[in-house]
Amino acid sequence: MTTLLIFGAAGDLTGRYLLPALARLAASDDLPPDLRVRGAGLEDFDRESFRAHADEQLARHAGDVRADARDTVLDRLDYVIADVTDPAAVASALRGATTPVLVYLALPPALFAPTVQSLARAGLPRDALVVVEKPFGTDLAGAREFNQLLAEVTDEDHIFRVDHFLAKQTVQNVLGLRFANRIFEPVWNAGHIESVDITWDETLALEGRASYYDTAGALRDMLQNHLLQLLCLVAMEPPHALEARDLRERKADVLRAVRTPTAADTARDTVRGRYTAGRAEDREVPDYTAEPGVDPDRGTETFAAMTCWIDNWRWAGVPFRLRSGKALGTRRSEIAIRFRDVPHLVFGQRHEPEPNVLRMTLDPDRIELSLNLNGAGDPFDLEPAHLDTDLAPQELPPYARLLLDVLNGDTTLSVGGAEAEEAWRIVNPVLAAWSDGTPPLLEYPAGSSGPTGEAHDHSDARHPSGSVY
Ligand code: BG6
Repeated sequence: MTTLLIFGAAGDLTGRYLLPALARLAASDDLPPDLRVRGAGLEDFDRESFRAHADEQLARHAGDVRADARDTVLDRLDYVIADVTDPAAVASALRGATTPVLVYLALPPALFAPTVQSLARAGLPRDALVVVEKPFGTDLAGAREFNQLLAEVTDEDHIFRVDHFLAKQTVQNVLGLRFANRIFEPVWNAGHIESVDITWDETLALEGRASYYDTAGALRDMLQNHLLQLLCLVAMEPPHALEARDLRERKADVLRAVRTPTAADTARDTVRGRYTAGRAEDREVPDYTAEPGVDPDRGTETFAAMTCWIDNWRWAGVPFRLRSGKALGTRRSEIAIRFRDVPHLVFGQRHEPEPNVLRMTLDPDRIELSLNLNGAGDPFDLEPAHLDTDLAPQELPPYARLLLDVLNGDTTLSVGGAEAEEAWRIVNPVLAAWSDGTPPLLEYPAGSSGPTGEAHDHSDARHPSGSVY
């Protein structure tokens, strides 16, 4: 018997992601038969009314999952009213839970630390597994303190710092591509790669998330965690095995080598922007500052771009450009690796070849390599060609994958404590410079290509290397 205890059981994350993930696991026969799910929260539910609430959430967010699988989840549910800041209430939520208990903090970030303090006082068994959503802290000092607090209640290999990007199929394919093929790794370095662009442009706007997003902003929401994790997978040294400790150490090594930006670096290598009213994907989007719950004086950015420099033997001098924004005109999620030009072109100056670009796109999942080949007419003319493959749709969506790993006690796809701290070390100086007004907050109309124009598209344009924002 195992108990999954979800704090924040009536919240958006549980309804939108966790309950549907459990239903998908039930549908694929991956739900352990002895798993009980206990929701805990402030809302005044009892077991029956919580099940009715969960039923609604499942109908809304997992309507495509078989009804019997959804019913299986409902049958496993029970509910306790608990204020997470009250150790006695947390102790009663833990009472009767079978060990090892899995505690999921599906809570607003401000409640993470108070909940862990309550768990400590409530005598959480040492073999418990604790799952923490992002953002892990709001700055370096906060992340350090929170890591220490977690270490007081359980061991590092029992802590899941969730980053759902790591459970995306194309993201995992970075590892497959690099480490299951002979052809890429020998050229995977500064000698052959000119630049790396990691782009996550969204057409979605705020979507009613002001209470979280307005105090976070794009840098904390996307770059500090998701995009730096993608950078790690692209740039890390080969792990000796695909297991948690080795992967976490290899990723932390890369982050340690990322240069801490100085004030001058921040002015040159970062961009921040905020959307104004416009039309994105046939929807009218209001000015960000007019969205309910937004405080315009906070100057929260909805677009962030940053060039990172990895000061190690493999990557010295190669710009890793990270970029993400909301309410943009075109959705684009990809990692693009641009290779250097050939050292000598035997084809004369008639046709400048396109750079070779290896592009991994997410949603839809696709891998594409651009090459230069001889043309059909004059054999010494060059023509661009693209080799591409569409990946089959991911069988288990990211949250189902993550939850399955949690149930199996497998931390391979979660973030280590050192990584979380290093990622804050990298973005902290940027946050400080931005709050001092450098560089200025730019505006871009919703539906446009953002304050810096299009994301880099190496397939149809040549870009200089280095910091180009
Ligand atoms: C979340 C961010 O972690 O990731 C959101 O908080 C963002 O702002 C989302 O929209 C993007 O991930 P996905 O998987 O929905 O594309």
